[in-house]
Amino acid sequence: MNVLLIGSGAREHAIAWKLRQSPLLDELWSMPGNPGTAELGTNIPAGDNEAVVAACREYGIGLVVVGSEEPLAAGIVDRLAVEGIAAFGPTQAAAEIESSKVFSKELMARHGIPTAPFAVFDDAAAAADYVKSQPGPFVVKADGLAKGKGVIVTDTEAEALAALESVMVTREFGAAGVRALVEQRIFGPEASAQAFTDGSTVAHMPFSCDHKPVFEGNRGPNTGGMGAYSSPGWLPDEVQEAVRTGMTEAAVRAMREEGRSYQGVLYPGIMQTESGPNVIEFNCRFGDPEAQVLLPRLQSDLLEIMVAVTEKRLDHVDVRWSDDACVAVVLASGGYPGEYETGLQISGLGDVDPDVRVFQAGTRRDDGGGLVTAGGRVLTVSASGATIGQAREKAYANVERVAFEGAYYRRDIGTAAATSDA
Ligand code: AMP
Ligand code: GLY
Repeated sequence: MNVLLIGSGAREHAIAWKLRQSPLLDELWSMPGNPGTAELGTNIPAGDNEAVVAACREYGIGLVVVGSEEPLAAGIVDRLAVEGIAAFGPTQAAAEIESSKVFSKELMARHGIPTAPFAVFDDAAAAADYVKSQPGPFVVKADGLAKGKGVIVTDTEAEALAALESVMVTREFGAAGVRALVEQRIFGPEASAQAFTDGSTVAHMPFSCDHKPVFEGNRGPNTGGMGAYSSPGWLPDEVQEAVRTGMTEAAVRAMREEGRSYQGVLYPGIMQTESGPNVIEFNCRFGDPEAQVLLPRLQSDLLEIMVAVTEKRLDHVDVRWSDDACVAVVLASGGYPGEYETGLQISGLGDVDPDVRVFQAGTRRDDGGGLVTAGGRVLTVSASGATIGQAREKAYANVERVAFEGAYYRRDIGTAAATSDA
């Protein structure tokens, strides 16, 4: 089977790496991919839904795999369905579980899925009145997709009012802020509970955790993710079970009942509060960098799973995971998530241990064919071990062999310090 993979991050490189291990895979095309996916198949230029359809015809694609939320929210799966082309990922209506935070919260409220109390506003003055009349602290969220940036966690009433102003009035996140949520702020460590689902059967992945803030000890501005580990030993088994049944499976059932049957990866981000787990958000695809610690643990054939999801027969596939721990450290350009330089020579990839994976993201080939930096998050080094400690040690020993000018990485990925106060 020929597969077209949409996306260009380290998550997509990890998906490509895992798909390449499948005996069912013939040719792999990546749109637009990166130099990492180019080593596993052929990269073609990025394009809109029509360009994806055209590429499918030209290359005889049997399955399209969508890495990130934007094409899903733009209805790529629906468009391909019209052409009779199978795609792994939710339809536009099902992807609303991520692309509309209002839909997602109201779905949870309708179906009794535990989440922080909230109110929805399309009027900035009414939202401000609410903040002034209710006890905080609050989290202010733009309804729509905002590249992970439309969430403002506040401590004081003044901060909440300023957040509302930027979301709803000055429209810092554009049309995403036409509607806004004001949520009760809750406290506790966070984890990701991802699962494959065909709309009925749910195959849970191990739990994982990412580290969003740029600096050690979870300080500084949020990024796309500076590293991840799996599994979080601090999350008790009974809580994991409660999340799997009361959140992931409950959401899959809720979506089916509401006529938005969900296929693909469903990713509830959860917070373990003093009174138990709450859903912070649902995502409609693999986490990045969580995919880089989950896919190395997948013992089954990823392509077989993805095809089974699209054919709604996931119950026929045995989805198995190794007990290994996995730690992934992101190497970022100095200055990220602010301004940074690109075009800097990357060295040392050839010195990495053979069982350590380097997943590329912000990289490109220069005119001479050398690998250079081309983005904020440049690459992810992912290593396995019997314990998180062993996996960390291996990951960091290898991170040190990769170099480019100004390379920055957090040194505390997977440590207790990094996880206790997420
Ligand atoms: P999201 O973009 O929805 O993942 O939100 C980004 C981050 O904001 C989450 O990972 C949490 O750390 C934080 N957050 C979102 N909602 C809440 C909440 N109700 N209480 C506390 N923190 C939150
Ligand atoms: N790691 C967070 C995300 O993928 O949304």
